[in-house]
Amino acid sequence: MTYARTIAVAFTGASGLQYGLRLLECLLAAEARVYLVYSPAAQVVARQELQLTLPTQPHAASAFFAERYRAKPGQLTVFGREDWLSPIASGSNPADAMAICPCSMGTAGALAAGLADNLIERAGDVMLKERKLLVLVPRETPLSAIHLENLLKLARAGAVILPPAPGFYGAPETIDDLVDFVVARILDQLRVTHTLGPRWGASRIAPPTVERA
Ligand SMILES: Cc1cc2nc3c(=O)[nH]c(=O)nc-3n(C[C@H](O)[C@H](O)[C@H](O)COP(=O)(O)O)c2cc1C
Repeated sequence: MTYARTIAVAFTGASGLQYGLRLLECLLAAEARVYLVYSPAAQVVARQELQLTLPTQPHAASAFFAERYRAKPGQLTVFGREDWLSPIASGSNPADAMAICPCSMGTAGALAAGLADNLIERAGDVMLKERKLLVLVPRETPLSAIHLENLLKLARAGAVILPPAPGFYGAPETIDDLVDFVVARILDQLRVTHTLGPRWGASRIAPPTVERA
């Protein structure tokens, strides 16, 4: 099967992995091809926040997520964080867009400095140099001047800085509602069609079509 769009997704070790997991679920439901990579710190966050063990080996991780979110064969590939031979490591074969969700201040700082010291940083660096869409979902509070300068630098380099700051005007009732508000905004940026949550000014509210796993 061929997919219209390929989206790279990275999970890093900031709080709020739920956003990243829901984003992955929605991208797969929307029939995007997804390349996924995550950091060891993201695995720690997964255990801490969700009591979830994310596999370390890429093949096991691909199987784990494909089953969890009912991905089609070949739709999802998980890469190791040092896999320099993966397509997203090069500007000759980048994804159409990339989201780092959640994005730690460490990864934001590394990106701002152009370190490209692991596949997440390198893939983000590639998106910027190729003028492709890079969405960062940075999570920290409060933000230091260093954090703010790094995020400004990345915004000036072309990244979309999309903090997980859900609006409350849709009368959210659950944590899932808050998560979906943020994921909806990320999907909008990635130009992926969705029906997550109400849109401002919409005459009626469509129910979400992506059921939770
Ligand atoms: C449970 C947990 C929550 C964390 N939350 C944050 C956070 O919200 N923001 C942040 O910048 N770092 C946070 N950290 C620290 C990062 O994980 C740490 O700086 C790490 O080196 C980031 O590496 P990475 O960017 O390669 O994932 C958290 C760590 C843990 C274990």
